[in-house]
Amino acid sequence: MMFTPTKINQLEIKNRLVRSGTGERLATDQGSITKELIDFYADLACKDIGLIITGHAYVQKNGKCGYRMAAIDKDQTIAGWKKVAKAVHETDSKIFIQLDHGGGQIAEDIMEEQTVAPSPVKNYNDGAMPRQLSHEEIEELVSAFIKAAVRGAKAGFDGVQFLAAQGYLINQFMSPYFNKRTDKWGGPLENRFRFLKEIYQGARQELGKEYPLTAKFCLADITEGGLKPSEGLKMAKELDKAGLDAFEVSGGASIQALNSVRYVKNEKDEAYYLPHLKRMRRHVKANLMLVGGIQSRSVMENLLKQGADMVSMCRPFVCEPDLVARLKRGQKKSKCICCNKCLTYYKKPTKCYKSDGI
Ligand SMILES: Cc1cc2nc3c(=O)[nH]c(=O)nc-3n(C[C@H](O)[C@H](O)[C@H](O)COP(=O)(O)O)c2cc1C
Repeated sequence: MMFTPTKINQLEIKNRLVRSGTGERLATDQGSITKELIDFYADLACKDIGLIITGHAYVQKNGKCGYRMAAIDKDQTIAGWKKVAKAVHETDSKIFIQLDHGGGQIAEDIMEEQTVAPSPVKNYNDGAMPRQLSHEEIEELVSAFIKAAVRGAKAGFDGVQFLAAQGYLINQFMSPYFNKRTDKWGGPLENRFRFLKEIYQGARQELGKEYPLTAKFCLADITEGGLKPSEGLKMAKELDKAGLDAFEVSGGASIQALNSVRYVKNEKDEAYYLPHLKRMRRHVKANLMLVGGIQSRSVMENLLKQGADMVSMCRPFVCEPDLVARLKRGQKKSKCICCNKCLTYYKKPTKCYKSDGI
């Protein structure tokens, strides 16, 4: 089943394997697309992956949250992105662009000015205090996400993924831990959901019913006082009803950077958001992808029987970009050991550093 085709909206995808959004750290310091970045995707596209999701691209300059992270904040960025989409389309793989803003979750040595967030709640990674966004700034941000989605479509991407998980700005709005606002953008669930909902509705209106619009999504934060599964589920149901085409099920704000749990060793520890996916499957018709700690072929096959439409992986593809071919040849498990050196060496281009001594 792993190698059978599927569809997201009208888009045919040749197999069920997804390369989850993975920051490449290959753009210029100003966020422009480089030859290295284009070559990276040209190469990855030859590896038989059904759907590739780009690393997160920032929709507004003050949302840059990664070293050498790529920008999609201006129309001038379209030309560079076109080359990325074109390189992938030389093959029959599909590619979505992932849109993000770091909000208050931007490391001190990346941020160029004080960070912005729904409320002044400390970034619990380094304690930096963001500035509260004004109503006008929030409206500008909604529009920045919508414009970035339109740029992604103009650049030739097969679809867009909004990053609404892992503690970044959209997730901060969803989360009662980070969002303490008392205006229409905070407080009750419907207000905390408004930021994502307006982004989605605006992008749908601009891009029409047939363009794949998706989200990397979380049912819950991994933080006390954060988003609860029952709340995440209500948001998911509403997005599903409004026509969101796919959810990639990940986790919410967590002290564990990017929810990349270290040293996943046993099959029973793999697919750590499966309970969330199962809960969503009972209520959501959209395509569901699952990410997080998936390593073994048998787990992948089981996930597809348990309600996932697609299986999404990040670190296994960093470790073995040709993993699909290896699985096809019968390899039983990824050789990734989840050491997270690909994450901790965050100022180097993303690749597997597991045999590096540090
Ligand atoms: C080096 C690295 C870069 C990542 N960059 C992104 C990113 O740009 N966007 C995103 O949504 N998640 C990012 N993640 C999180 C992964 O997509 C994924 O959700 C997480 O690592 C768990 O999946 P895995 O066990 O398959 O690695 C990154 C993770 C790593 C290790």
